[in-house]
Amino acid sequence: MASIRVKNLTKTFKNTTAVNALNLEIADGEFFCILGPPGAGKTTLLRLIVGLEKPDKGEIIIDDENVNSIHPSKRDISMIFQNLALYPDKTVFDNIAFPLRQQKTPEDEIGTKVTEIAKQLKIDWLLEKIPSQLSGGERQRVAIGRAIVRKPKAYLMDEPLSNLDALLRLEMRMSLKELQTDLKETFVYVTHDQVEALSMGDRIAVMNNGVIQQVDKPETIYRMPTNMFVATILGNPPMNFLKCALKAENSKVNIIHKAFTISTGDKSFKEKLIADSKEKNIVLGLRPEDIRINTEKPKESSIRTEIYVTEPLGNETIVDIKLGDNIIKVLTEPDFPGKPGQPIWITFNCSKLHIFHDETHECVYHATEKNKFEIV
Ligand SMILES: Nc1ncnc2c1ncn2[C@@H]1O[C@H](COP(=O)(O)OP(=O)(O)O)[C@@H](O)[C@H]1O
Ligand SMILES: [Mg+2]
Repeated sequence: MASIRVKNLTKTFKNTTAVNALNLEIADGEFFCILGPPGAGKTTLLRLIVGLEKPDKGEIIIDDENVNSIHPSKRDISMIFQNLALYPDKTVFDNIAFPLRQQKTPEDEIGTKVTEIAKQLKIDWLLEKIPSQLSGGERQRVAIGRAIVRKPKAYLMDEPLSNLDALLRLEMRMSLKELQTDLKETFVYVTHDQVEALSMGDRIAVMNNGVIQQVDKPETIYRMPTNMFVATILGNPPMNFLKCALKAENSKVNIIHKAFTISTGDKSFKEKLIADSKEKNIVLGLRPEDIRINTEKPKESSIRTEIYVTEPLGNETIVDIKLGDNIIKVLTEPDFPGKPGQPIWITFNCSKLHIFHDETHECVYHATEKNKFEIV
């Protein structure tokens, strides 16, 4: 069991700062996901924690002990890599037993431990086979078995499922989550796949350019992203962004786009966003599921527009819609009947809109049920 803390950690390779003054606190027993695009610095961060890289600056603290000068083999952390390298000539048993044999564990103890882990991973019936006789998912389980058999303090996983096909990934996601629930150990799981992070993580850290953008529970990251990067990395299709002008008018504030105006009399909104100026530019963020398409004009006020393209995906349809100079994506039901060019009326779930700063891209406002925004 271990908590992991990283303080002001920096690692630069020639011109690239892969990890930049990074701070992170991972609790004991947590399933902690690090989500970021390729090049974000995720692998470097894991390699620093496990001790395969030396930091330029900063501290790595495991269970209240600074481990900067402790050799990787003494940190008692195991790392599972994207490319699982099993020994091709060794049986599943011998592959899993390998780290224990290196530690000179007695053979009878090895037998007990390997069997126990194999049962946990549901590969106990494969112990006498060699890797080439196994499926991709089974091989992945063996690699995981080998990493966990010596019961380290924490498990670091670097995109362990990215080489598997979609169906296997789905199955392994469940297995890993189950395994962590059984073991109750600290898992640090790196991925570029938002679905993996959302479905497995107790908490998610979103990382970009060597910097952590936000750390929160999955639902909070999705519901209240701190900036446009985080808003984009979670959600499929991602959040729609529309450049708008914010204009104060008497007691109201209007969010003005070429194709529509949203108005609110909400005092807190006004005070927070435009108290000191009459007009400014912002970016309005709306998730595809927070926009509704009406094929006939509804009673409530709506925006008249037309369908640009439809993308039927089986269990849902994505509809692309023109709004002024923008094209937005809307999520709708599987057998949505609309055709390109057809006139439609859209409405927004205004209690879920987000306002971003047009230059810094930081989120400056998340609407809630309490706000009274309406299309006018
Ligand atoms: N050993 C290295 N030498 C030079 N550049 C590196 C090295 N390792 C990583 N980098 C660079 O650091 C950045 C972060 O890489 P990495 O940690 O692998 O990101 P991720 O795992 O998120 O894709 C990238 O720009 C990468 O090219
Ligand atoms: Mg990587």
